[in-house]
Amino acid sequence: MNAPELQAQNDPHTGVYERATGLADEWWRVSLSDRPHMYRIEHGGAGGRVDIDTVVDLDNLRAKLIKWQREGFARAGDEQSETEAPRDSGFLAALKHAIETTSKSAKPRAERSVTIGNVRVPVGRASPLVPAVNSAYLFAERFNDIIADIVENRRVMLIGHTGAGKTSLIEQVAARSKHGVLRSNMNGQTTVSDFVGFWTVKGGETMWVDGVLPTAMREGLWLIIDELDFAEPSILAVLTAVLEPNGRLLLKEKGNEIVAAHPSFRLFATANAVGAMSQFRHLYQGANLMNEAFLDRWRVYLLDYLSPDEEAEVLMRTLAPRMSRPMAETLAAIASDCRAAFTREDLASAFSTRRLLDWAELMLRTGDPERAAGPAIYAKVSPEDAALIRSIIRHHIVFDA
Ligand SMILES: Nc1ncnc2c1ncn2[C@@H]1O[C@H](COP(=O)(O)OP(=O)(O)O)[C@@H](O)[C@H]1O
Ligand SMILES: [Mg+2]
Repeated sequence: MNAPELQAQNDPHTGVYERATGLADEWWRVSLSDRPHMYRIEHGGAGGRVDIDTVVDLDNLRAKLIKWQREGFARAGDEQSETEAPRDSGFLAALKHAIETTSKSAKPRAERSVTIGNVRVPVGRASPLVPAVNSAYLFAERFNDIIADIVENRRVMLIGHTGAGKTSLIEQVAARSKHGVLRSNMNGQTTVSDFVGFWTVKGGETMWVDGVLPTAMREGLWLIIDELDFAEPSILAVLTAVLEPNGRLLLKEKGNEIVAAHPSFRLFATANAVGAMSQFRHLYQGANLMNEAFLDRWRVYLLDYLSPDEEAEVLMRTLAPRMSRPMAETLAAIASDCRAAFTREDLASAFSTRRLLDWAELMLRTGDPERAAGPAIYAKVSPEDAALIRSIIRHHIVFDA
């Protein structure tokens, strides 16, 4: 063995670093250069083709070794370190590894945070705008992704039928993490000036009044834009700029003042009939379609009604001990049947959890489900709907003759 060969064998860096991506094999070869204290590195792909052949010093090589390790290159026989990407693994295994590595290297937890579902949510500050905690509120496991998006400051849009729980999900996350909430409903008279702000005269002086959007952005509040599919196009246009990451609001009416978002500011929208809910558009008269470019600025979650089991649980949490488990299950089954009739279009009116809770509460006072259904259900719907709901109730509850 000649001197250079002996040197190469003793050098801890030389060798072939390979990666099997599952698509095409790739490798880096490190050998000693002819020049003292320098290394030759070559890069090759499938078929033995060499596309990089260069000489670097030790510092440069060390930086490259770290980079290659991150990219999943390893020498045969080398121990894989904990942070090394798995070799010869499929896409899902690589994804799992990426998630584990991210959570290991995650930033230290915010000083004050609260666990909601399985997500740590940083705590805001007390304010009269923090919604009240509903202790009967049930955080289903499927809400965890939505809560994680809130922490990551993603724009979240919840779509689903009336009363499915869109607004209350955001409000209950805010209630538990102590963030003030502003709501703006687009299915009414909300104008661009309500939303953005306007000039007014007060005590002889002209002054600017911020609308809900700049107020929430400046104060670090959570803004829920309800029924966004009913918003005027001019409001959607204003929103578009704010939806960008680090998006700012330009108050054109106020001499082009720029409003930057407070770090606690969050933006939410709810809608009934866009995206995956478009098939129900005819049930929500006047709802507008939203173009895909606008929808792509949001994480859009389809929220369904609670399952009968979950709804029975909510009834129990709200009304036990007066509410028994069999009663709760029967009532949840009635709500579920009414919703099925609604999606079949046999019923024109939706059946929210709120309506079910109200009916249950009233029947616990009156002792009479039929009488309680009057003000809680029948009086709110058409006579035809009332008749169908009555028959669904009678299918589940046997009344004395
Ligand atoms: N996960 C839940 N746990 C407990 N109650 C719920 C839950 N989801 C919805 N509700 C009840 O249903 C009612 C209607 O929900 P809401 O958020 O107003 O619906 P939406 O905004 O979709 O119309 C809420 O006031 C709440 O009482
Ligand atoms: Mg709502």
